[in-house]
Amino acid sequence: GFTPRVFSGIQPTGNLHLGNYLGALKRFADAQNKGIQSIYCMVDLHAITVWQDPADLARATRELCAGFIAAGIDPEKSILFNQSQVPEHTQLAWIFNCVARLGWMQRMTQFKDKAGKNAQNASLGLLAYPALMAADILVYHATHVPVGEDQKQHLELTRDIAIKFNHDYGVDFFPITEPVIEGAATRVMSFRDGTKKMSKSDPSDMSRINLTDDADAIAKKIRKAKTDPEPLPDSIEGLEDRPEARNLVNIYAALADLTPEQVIAEHAGQQFGAFKPALADLAVAKLAPISTEMSRLMQDQGEIDSILRRGADRAREIATPILQKTYDITGM
Ligand code: ADP
Ligand code: NA
Repeated sequence: GFTPRVFSGIQPTGNLHLGNYLGALKRFADAQNKGIQSIYCMVDLHAITVWQDPADLARATRELCAGFIAAGIDPEKSILFNQSQVPEHTQLAWIFNCVARLGWMQRMTQFKDKAGKNAQNASLGLLAYPALMAADILVYHATHVPVGEDQKQHLELTRDIAIKFNHDYGVDFFPITEPVIEGAATRVMSFRDGTKKMSKSDPSDMSRINLTDDADAIAKKIRKAKTDPEPLPDSIEGLEDRPEARNLVNIYAALADLTPEQVIAEHAGQQFGAFKPALADLAVAKLAPISTEMSRLMQDQGEIDSILRRGADRAREIATPILQKTYDITGM
């Protein structure tokens, strides 16, 4: 058996948004507060699979670190660090590049989406990214990975790599990691289009709430969010063909630590003219303090840098022996 250990990462690509908060950050803080050993990472090596301006990347990395802390990750309780500062990730990733099959990578829907029509022109890193992600997780023997719905396929690939490595070398060395995709908001949708996920790469700023938005911006974006003209139904089934309405109910539920059923029970029959202001009040109460705390932390970059350095040292204490054992197993 493997000791329960949580790992997850977020790309430092700017515009941390409500989807990242509800699908990832908030749940990271919940895992940490349950006392499970938790390792959280700014995955800058993933970010550069598409072009990043160096100054923007450096700023986004510090801002993401501030976001983690403002969302409740305690760098003393959890291990909080930046991926490129722990070279064991890329060392293990190379071994996994040799375990994973090319066809596995080419099937990844995120690769197809991000590479677009001209896949020949995508970086090799964009294709190999899921093997690096497997290394991020398995170099800590992490057993559980809280993520949003969009990462499900990559987590399955991580399991496939662990299974194939264990099988090829005849060992029971890497755990078969469990994705933890749960709660009311594992897939927060865009405010402009209920069929698309809320994303930092969406060109419309009105499509998402950024964690740096102030109270006025949060309230305005919710007021203007696309909805339909019907009132809220009196049971959850009534939301099935109403993606925008369902999205707002899910967001309310996740922010209030309720189930969508409980939110519907409280707000059945309500018009959006009344539900949206209630959601806006809740969102401002939960998110504005995060934004304030992020700006406060960003005042002291030296402190952020030293938190990340300490985190990297602690991460390496776990990663180094696991990489060494992997080298032993593979005859290196
Ligand atoms: P993005 O998809 O915005 O580029 P990342 O790929 O860095 O962000 O994802 C960071 C974390 O946030 C992952 O766990 C991912 O599953 C989660 N996440 C991203 N977008 C959403 C969303 N719209 N709803 C729920 N979780 C999300
Ligand atoms: Na993503």
